[in-house]
Amino acid sequence: MSGILSDKVSLITGAGSGIGRASAIAFAREGAQVVVSDIDAEGGEETVSRISEIGGQAIFVPADVSRAADVEALVQSTVQQYGRLDCAFNNAGVSGGQDLIHEYSEDDWDRVIDINLKGVWLCLKYEIIQMLEQGGGSIVNTASIMGLVGGSRSPSYGASKHGVVGLTRNAAVQYAQSGIRVNAVCPGYIRTPMTEQGALLGPGNEERIIARHPIGRLGAPEEIAETVVWLCSDAASFVTGHAMTVDGGYVAQ
Ligand SMILES: NC(=O)c1ccc[n+]([C@@H]2O[C@H](COP(=O)([O-])OP(=O)(O)OC[C@H]3O[C@@H](n4cnc5c(N)ncnc54)[C@H](O)[C@@H]3O)[C@@H](O)[C@H]2O)c1
Repeated sequence: MSGILSDKVSLITGAGSGIGRASAIAFAREGAQVVVSDIDAEGGEETVSRISEIGGQAIFVPADVSRAADVEALVQSTVQQYGRLDCAFNNAGVSGGQDLIHEYSEDDWDRVIDINLKGVWLCLKYEIIQMLEQGGGSIVNTASIMGLVGGSRSPSYGASKHGVVGLTRNAAVQYAQSGIRVNAVCPGYIRTPMTEQGALLGPGNEERIIARHPIGRLGAPEEIAETVVWLCSDAASFVTGHAMTVDGGYVAQ
């Protein structure tokens, strides 16, 4: 398949579901060779099947992004399979508990920060080692509108996503001269298993959440995928250190 990511070797974490799966499919449709990674093997293999069905190229490599050894092995497997790493979408993440700060448990704080923030740092670390060796690349991290504004619940989630925005800017500045671009995508509320399985889109809540988006609806995973494809592609060659909202106007208010 050919498109704006033709022959770009691309690694996507959290690609067994939601935004990551939609992105893996969009990358493959644009010609990328995709490494689908997730902690959930069943979801990851399903994404690979869907890519094969549309004639794309993908393999599944399991990894827990909060474990350094897993992430190092993931980048190694990518290079062993496809010879290099051109694009990475560090997207794996979890929602935190919905408690307020004074009620929040230390265990949940550590779990969310480990996956959402430390996980992105570990991915950046091993991807950048490879990209420095080959002379460049492009990386997108998944932050959130909750990385730009305060949320009424889930303090660890908000802190982790603000951290992802900060880390993105830091990485962009540190590696701009090395040909590595690093950006973040900040989605509004997107209809995925993360929002549908939790209480977030439960009865009564959905209308309240929709009302906070000026556009008057929730987003679809494919709308985030389109943005990430563009940010990773050479079409965005002068864009780095940007935290791009894709949120139906949520933070514009
Ligand atoms: N859905 C939304 O409204 C929304 C809004 C803003 C940001 N986000 C962010 O988008 C990203 C994707 O979320 P989604 O909505 O597609 O959720 P999702 O639950 O559908 O997908 C998340 C994927 O990450 C994987 N994952 C979880 N922990 C992992 C780990 N330790 N290592 C590797 N993989 C792991 C899960 O198995 C799952 O496949 C997350 O970072 C999330 O915080 C989502």
